[in-house]
Amino acid sequence: MKAAYFEAHGGPENIRVGDLPDPEPQAGEVVLSVEAAALNHLDLWVRRGIPELEIPLPHVGGSDFAGRITRLGDGVEGWEIGERVTANPGLWCDRCEWCARGEHSLCERYGIVGEHVAGGLAEEVRVPVRNLLRLPEGFPAERAAAAPLVYQTAWRALITRAGLRAGQTVLITGASGGVSTAAIQIAKLVDARVIAVTSGKHVDAVRELGADEVIDRDREDLSVVAWKLTGKRGVDVVLDGVGEAVWARCVRALSPDGCLVTYGATTGARGCPDIRLVFWRQLRIIGSTMASDSEFREVMGLVLDGTLKPVIDVVWPLERAREAHERLEAGEQFGKIVLTP
Ligand SMILES: NC(=O)c1ccc[n+]([C@@H]2O[C@H](COP(=O)([O-])OP(=O)(O)OC[C@H]3O[C@@H](n4cnc5c(N)ncnc54)[C@H](OP(=O)(O)O)[C@@H]3O)[C@@H](O)[C@H]2O)c1
Ligand SMILES: [Zn+2]
Repeated sequence: MKAAYFEAHGGPENIRVGDLPDPEPQAGEVVLSVEAAALNHLDLWVRRGIPELEIPLPHVGGSDFAGRITRLGDGVEGWEIGERVTANPGLWCDRCEWCARGEHSLCERYGIVGEHVAGGLAEEVRVPVRNLLRLPEGFPAERAAAAPLVYQTAWRALITRAGLRAGQTVLITGASGGVSTAAIQIAKLVDARVIAVTSGKHVDAVRELGADEVIDRDREDLSVVAWKLTGKRGVDVVLDGVGEAVWARCVRALSPDGCLVTYGATTGARGCPDIRLVFWRQLRIIGSTMASDSEFREVMGLVLDGTLKPVIDVVWPLERAREAHERLEAGEQFGKIVLTP
């Protein structure tokens, strides 16, 4: 099959498009013929090399995809060849304490398709049958492929972990990103007020997406502006995946009893908030990663019924995979980069 892959960790120049062996479904798995797949920032980390993660090479990235079932592994029941599906990219053991509680993204052996095993930036991908989600008749593959990883991450972080409610104010950093564009929509769906932080080139698009206020990070200090916009009260929730470059300011932007929910560290992993602010304002700093399978299905229901609409930056042929990595790495994209084999 044709695939976008790398044989050595490093820069985008390592991405090749060529032939790899077809995947064979194991027991409890299916193979899909991919119609569309999407990139995540995760693909950049995996390509650069994550020190504690050893993966077999060549590696095919792409945690998000949609397509048709072409082959069934042993023991697969209830699914037919030809059905159109997307999938939860999370991989869990179903045996540990956390899986027993339904907390799949806390699983002791948690993994992600496209990170720990081959992903969907290819003509075919192998996936456990329990991860599958049927697409409604005629649902565009590009839209389905743009959703699974980022919507589940944004949903769990905002709704389950931070408990965002109507009338609260949420500040969302890196607003042009995949998770953040999903988060802006989810926050508006629950009637929260959204203050989004983005680079100058994306200010208009972020406002059009529904943010109530937009802070231009090239010109403004987010904590100062957030302070002004809330009448010196601060925001109830900050959702951040940018990390080091903004963390101290994110903490300063919080109201008393405010909650910073972190799910990423794009710019670096060292945050150094003023500890006195944390206890004096009685702040909550919490983490969030991916989601449980039930959270995935809940938010994807809203994507598949059209309530939430993934923001698609470009749809390119798979042959442009290297260029796609470069575009994402440079932060030029607005929303999701989708590739079609
Ligand atoms: N824990 C989890 O489960 C989980 C899940 C998904 C993603 N993540 C992590 O979360 C992060 C975001 O993921 P994503 O796929 O949404 O990423 P993405 O689509 O690549 O978006 C990242 C955004 O961060 C902003 N940014 C980049 N450099 C910046 C800088 N120097 N200063 C301030 N902002 C900067 C940019 O937005 P603006 O130009 O709009 O500011 C950029 O669009 C990644 O680090 C990813 O690995 C974690
Ligand atoms: Zn488990």
